[in-house]
Amino acid sequence: MESELYRLFYPRGIAIVGASKNPSKIGHIVLKNILDGGYKGRVYPVNPTAESVLGLPCYPSVSSINGEVDVVIVSVPADKTIEVAEDAGRAGAQFLVVLSSGFKEVGNKELEERLVQVARKNGMRVLGPNIFGYVYTPAKLNASFGPPNLLPGNIAFITQSGALGIALMGYSIVEEIGVSSVVSVGNKADIDDADLLSFFLNDPNTQAVIMYIEGISDGRKFLDIASEFSARKPIITIKAGRTEFGAKAAASHTGSLSSGPILWEGVLRQVGALQVKDVQTAFDYARIFERNIKLPGPNVLVITNGGGAGVQATDTLAERGIRLNEPPKDYVDYLRTFLPPFASTRNPVDITGGASDEYYYLALRKALEHEEIHSILVLYCQTMTTNPMKTAEAIIKAVQETDIKKPVVAGFVGGPESKEAISYLYRAGIPAYPTPERAAEALSAIYLYSKRRSVVEARLAYLKTLYGKSQRLVETRIIGEK
Ligand code: ACO
Repeated sequence: MESELYRLFYPRGIAIVGASKNPSKIGHIVLKNILDGGYKGRVYPVNPTAESVLGLPCYPSVSSINGEVDVVIVSVPADKTIEVAEDAGRAGAQFLVVLSSGFKEVGNKELEERLVQVARKNGMRVLGPNIFGYVYTPAKLNASFGPPNLLPGNIAFITQSGALGIALMGYSIVEEIGVSSVVSVGNKADIDDADLLSFFLNDPNTQAVIMYIEGISDGRKFLDIASEFSARKPIITIKAGRTEFGAKAAASHTGSLSSGPILWEGVLRQVGALQVKDVQTAFDYARIFERNIKLPGPNVLVITNGGGAGVQATDTLAERGIRLNEPPKDYVDYLRTFLPPFASTRNPVDITGGASDEYYYLALRKALEHEEIHSILVLYCQTMTTNPMKTAEAIIKAVQETDIKKPVVAGFVGGPESKEAISYLYRAGIPAYPTPERAAEALSAIYLYSKRRSVVEARLAYLKTLYGKSQRLVETRIIGEK
């Protein structure tokens, strides 16, 4: 069955109300982004005072457009949005994407409710208000005033903060993280996180979702869909308002009622979502999950050329409940055939500071082939006797030759050459990070997700046997329901 939000992401036609010739106005920037992004549907600027904008003829209203309009982007001041909504309704639009600020976040709750009422009466759904728009790369659609040229990929990003969301769009380009979608939800007057999760759950272009959440209005709806989602794909949440002070700041930002920090942590655990404190960690996790590699078992092997890096990684893993076991005996015997006698063949395997690319290749290749080794963390510290790019090539060669689907994560510490090697590894499909701690933390996310997912799956199966398919998942109302 087609998702309720299908035409939001695959519109046949889009109208931009408030499209302006003035290049500094938001209505102009959004129109430009849509055109520059390569969207293939019809695009209609709407502005009663302009004849054309960016080479396209302008319409005085949405209802005067002679063509199918599924989405109406609204970029006029808040007090004009009701008339625009009524006109869009007459035109048979399905979605209003309201960029305008000046609603619940500044105490104007009545206007926001009225907007949703008018939309509902006309069979439309509302995204926003108070948002920067949205992006869906599979449809080459950038209906936002964020940066252009996002890298296509399979991570969807849902954000309640506009400024942070826009900044993250830029950061994703710098970090080379490919996105399927970025959706600004703002005040969530109608379409909310749960609605979007329902779409991304069945979206073959989305492998994992990052969410920046300040508050949830319908707790039960979120819990139901988030559990179902986590059973299939990872959710990474950056929860704002983790402290009482942060919660107050969130309330004045998007008008959200933020739940208490402890309650929130419990809710996320229950639905199988992963919680991170900062944006960088969210992207680090995304980098791992976009590969969709299943975890074959518990045993992690760390291969390093630096003892300190190995210790740091071991500590990070241990803090996240992952203990390193000794490597299998036959693997140790194999290492002994080529490593110098002063190398350590315990776990972390220290292939020594002067480790050649060949050592990396041999140690990794055998580890990939070994049934009792389930994931591998390869650490490299740049020295004058080694070449980061050559080491990266050796790692890629081992992974590609064996073609075994186990998580392999790299941590390369060093200067600009190491940074280059990280990009090279990443483009070859190997998640790579500039510190051992970040690499270890990212690897641990796969373990945590796998654990949480099995708990959620078991609970879903149990509830299904108890109540049948239609029973809503969560027994009680947990947070801030309307
Ligand atoms: N139909 C069509 N066009 C109209 C209508 C109408 N009913 N009424 C006015 N217009 C035209 C205007 O004439 C103008 O065109 P012009 O430049 O050719 O004269 C254009 O629409 C825009 O209207 P303005 O009154 O100039 O409004 P402006 O573009 O300055 O601001 C906006 C509109 C951007 C929606 C503003 O009111 C607003 O809310 N800004 C905040 C947006 C925001 O920050 N959202 C949250 C994002 S998240 C974050 O934090 C970044």
